[in-house]
Amino acid sequence: MSSTTIGAIVRGDAAVFPPYLYEAYRSTIKRAPGLPLVDVPLTLSELTGPGPLLSAVTPEDADLTRNAGTGGEAIGQRIIVTGRLLDAAGQPIPHALVEVWQANAAGRYVHKRDQWPGPLDPNFLGIGRCKTDTDGVYRFMTVRPGAYPWKNHPNAWRPAHIHFSLFGPAWGTRLITQMYFQDDPLFFQDPIFASVPPEAGKRLIAHYDHDLTEAEWALGWRWDIVLGGATATPFEHGEVR
Ligand SMILES: [Fe+2]
Repeated sequence: MSSTTIGAIVRGDAAVFPPYLYEAYRSTIKRAPGLPLVDVPLTLSELTGPGPLLSAVTPEDADLTRNAGTGGEAIGQRIIVTGRLLDAAGQPIPHALVEVWQANAAGRYVHKRDQWPGPLDPNFLGIGRCKTDTDGVYRFMTVRPGAYPWKNHPNAWRPAHIHFSLFGPAWGTRLITQMYFQDDPLFFQDPIFASVPPEAGKRLIAHYDHDLTEAEWALGWRWDIVLGGATATPFEHGEVR
């Protein structure tokens, strides 16, 4: 297995994962570890799973267009985002907790640190969760997120994306990544996407699927997540907006 090395620091398979330090993505310059990583023994709470949270997941949690609790509906292009969660052998992973967060249709997050003048939507929180079914399938109803500006470089805009978090059998097994849209014009100037090796980056892109599209209601996007092996989905370390 190849690897990315910063000094003595090795990070996974360099064909799949972005390096800790990617200078064009400016915050990695301060965030990348400068000293060898230390193995921290997991505590009991990290070794136990998100059991109570799993039991609290309801079908309504997977509909971001209506889960703000206002009784109203989010504004934007309705989309269905679905796919399978697979292990390295291509086998589906059932009953996994999948959480998502995203900007609204105007590219604005409900977050105090997001203050750019894109409008907020009172009927959209931008968070959702579901469990994979017995075939490893997750499914969300949401609105297509807008692009948003950030200050990484002049006129920098993030391609539209949805953040995904996956929980394995324990809190310590959380994985985080981002899903992008096939037809986005902004990939060329995004160092976060560019930091992922090109072949692996393709595996972060959802594809439009007309068979998923529901007439008179929502467009369908399909994206499978693979937890290992030659077609593994790249995952992140650290905080990414
Ligand atoms: Fe984001």
